[in-house]
Amino acid sequence: MTDKLVYTKNIYNGSREELVEKVKAALSDKRFQHVLRVEEMAIKLADQWQVDKELASITALTHDYAKERSDIDFLNKISEKKLDTDLKNWGNNVWHGVVGAEMVKDELGINHEDILNAIRQHTTGGVTMTKLSQVLYMADYIEEARDFPGIDEVRALAFKDLAASVGWQTAHTLAYLVDKQVKIYPGTLLTYNAWSVK
Ligand SMILES: [Fe+2]
Ligand SMILES: [Fe+2]
Repeated sequence: MTDKLVYTKNIYNGSREELVEKVKAALSDKRFQHVLRVEEMAIKLADQWQVDKELASITALTHDYAKERSDIDFLNKISEKKLDTDLKNWGNNVWHGVVGAEMVKDELGINHEDILNAIRQHTTGGVTMTKLSQVLYMADYIEEARDFPGIDEVRALAFKDLAASVGWQTAHTLAYLVDKQVKIYPGTLLTYNAWSVK
């Protein structure tokens, strides 16, 4: 299905195949395969929730574009773009979304704000998330190869009640992080308060 998707909106200055090649060159094969599965799931969710499929495809293909960049690259980008200096206290998990969006913009020439915001929010979520942002957040979590307790439940939920599935993911991720006793990015807590609390 995704192989036949033809880009017509000029959001990315090239074909889907050209974008796939750029992403492939930036990632290990393992992560590249994950990205293709996220795209497939994002398009299915887009279909279900009336989100534009070209936007879903570009967002999914580029969401982890910066994941394998060095810490120095991210720190330099935070300075260059004058992003919130508190970001420097965090790490790859937060950076590859929030700072990675700047790399997608500068290096791939993608300026569509909904796409960039979805990339920014894909690991931490956000208080305000567009449908596209919710679709990426969920597609990343439930792509075909994901396997964890509750996966069938949350996969079904993402197609039944997208917002509820965002809340489900956020609550489970937070519980996992608390269990590991690792530092929680405040943005994740804000997402939890906005989407997970009944
Ligand atoms: Fe990611
Ligand atoms: Fe991902």
